[in-house]
Amino acid sequence: MIQESAEAHAGRLGRLAAAVQRHRHELGEADLLGGTVESELSSVDRVLARIQRDGLARGSVFCEWGSGLGGVCGAATLNGFQSVGIEIQGSLVRAARAIATELDLASAFAEGTFLLPGDEDLGEFPQPGTHRHFGQEAWTETGLAPTECDVVFAYPWPGEEAFVDRVFSRHAGADSLLMTFHDFDRVFVQRKLDAESALLPVGWF
Ligand SMILES: C[S@@+](CC[C@H](N)C(=O)[O-])C[C@H]1O[C@@H](n2cnc3c(N)ncnc32)[C@H](O)[C@@H]1O
Repeated sequence: MIQESAEAHAGRLGRLAAAVQRHRHELGEADLLGGTVESELSSVDRVLARIQRDGLARGSVFCEWGSGLGGVCGAATLNGFQSVGIEIQGSLVRAARAIATELDLASAFAEGTFLLPGDEDLGEFPQPGTHRHFGQEAWTETGLAPTECDVVFAYPWPGEEAFVDRVFSRHAGADSLLMTFHDFDRVFVQRKLDAESALLPVGWF
C-alpha cells in the first residue's frame, strides 16, 4: 500500500462521509424502512489505522456484516484492506456501489444475508434488528468463505451484541478479529483465538 499523507487521508475520509450523508438524504423513506444507521466513520477509521499500524490482523481481508451505505467498507479500503460488505437491503447496496464508484474505492458489495443456513438456532433478537434471513447466496457472491475474513465489522442493534459475537464465534476463522461499533463512538475489538475458543478482548478504542 502506498502511504498517503495524513491530510490526504483525512480529505478522502471527509469526502466519503459527505457522500454517505448525501446518499442517505437522497434515498426515499421507503428505501430506509428496513432500518439502517451509520457508524461514526472517523472513530472506525482511527481503529482500522491502529490495527494496520500495530499489525493486529492476520491479513487484509475485511468483511462487513450489514454494510448499509458502505461507509465503513470505504474506510477499510482507505486503510489498505480488501473490503467487501454484505447488505440485505438492495437500495442500500446500490447506493454503496454508487458511492464506491464516485470516489474510486475498490470496495465490493453483495446483496443478501450474512446469516447462514443453520444459524436459526443462534437465538431470538429484538426488532428492529438483524433481519432473520438465512442463506449462502451473498457469501457466494463475495467469493469468500466466512473463515477467510481477517477482520469482520458489525454495528449491532441494541441488545444484539451477544448475538453478533455468537455468529462470529461460529463462523470466523482462527486468529481473525471482530470489530463492533457501540454507543459513544466506541469500537470494541475481539480476537477468535482458535477454532473452538471463546473471544479474547483486544480492547476498547
Ligand atoms: C446498524 S446498521 C449498520 C450499517 C453499517 N454497518 C454501519 O456501521 O454504518 C445495520 C445494517 O445491517 C443490515 N442488515 C440487517 N440484517 C441483515 C442481514 N441478515 N444480512 C445483511 N445485512 C443485514 C441493515 O439493513 C442495516 O443496513
